[in-house]
Amino acid sequence: MEQVPAPLPGRDALLAALRLQMEWGADEALLDAPADRFAAPPPAPALAAPALARPAPRPASSALIPPPAAAAASLAAGAADLAALKAAIAATDSPLRETATNLVFADGMPESGLMMIGEAPGADEDRLGRPFVGVSGKLLDRMLDSIGLRREENFYLTNILPWRPPGNRTPTDAEINLFLPFLLRHIALVRPRHLVLLGGVSAKALLRAKEGITRLRGRWHAVEGAGDAALPALATLHPAYLLRNPAAKRDAWSDLILLRRTLDGEARRGS
Ligand code: URA
Repeated sequence: MEQVPAPLPGRDALLAALRLQMEWGADEALLDAPADRFAAPPPAPALAAPALARPAPRPASSALIPPPAAAAASLAAGAADLAALKAAIAATDSPLRETATNLVFADGMPESGLMMIGEAPGADEDRLGRPFVGVSGKLLDRMLDSIGLRREENFYLTNILPWRPPGNRTPTDAEINLFLPFLLRHIALVRPRHLVLLGGVSAKALLRAKEGITRLRGRWHAVEGAGDAALPALATLHPAYLLRNPAAKRDAWSDLILLRRTLDGEARRGS
């Protein structure tokens, strides 16, 4: 009997399939033409003699392979300055590096004494290779400007992750653990007097806390492991959260006032 070809999916079904892919994080085309991964493989060329499969040499013990986070920690510790640290991050193998376009290292004034730490680059940051340059970055700049702080003079910015997670999904624990040693080294090299932790991912990772950002925000904590002394760190809401929940701007504003008062108090004391 003659085979009837299956009807082509309609426009709505195609759009729904595209939407599903975007939700899963497949939001960029990697090839010019689609690749059919279900197509039958081409026939293998006939071999003159069967090739002998040689098993890959196995290490005597899996303990000989350093876990990626331990290798990252020793790479980070060896970075003597910010340029070396950036190069070490770029050289660190991670699936995120394969899907991102640009490494997003930092922006602003490293000598300012104030360092802000966000979550991870989004699409705009990935495209431009700078943190907080999209809509949430614009809101952050406006909020900080309202207390007299400008990126070019008064603060420095980086993220927990240096690469954009596909589809802007939340960073996994494994990704955070891999890049945390680089971030702690980054802080140790910059030697800020104060940290601001933007959002739950940043606050939980650096404070090694279980509580969410609504419990952590609005007060000073101590960040350990980034240099010799513990560093004062203010946890606050992430600007992307404020864009989705404008009513929370009240809380963010009270955090900003606390930051301004602390900076002013220390300037008066000359510390
Ligand atoms: N959100 C972040 O946490 N970091 C950025 O750089 C941009 C958006």
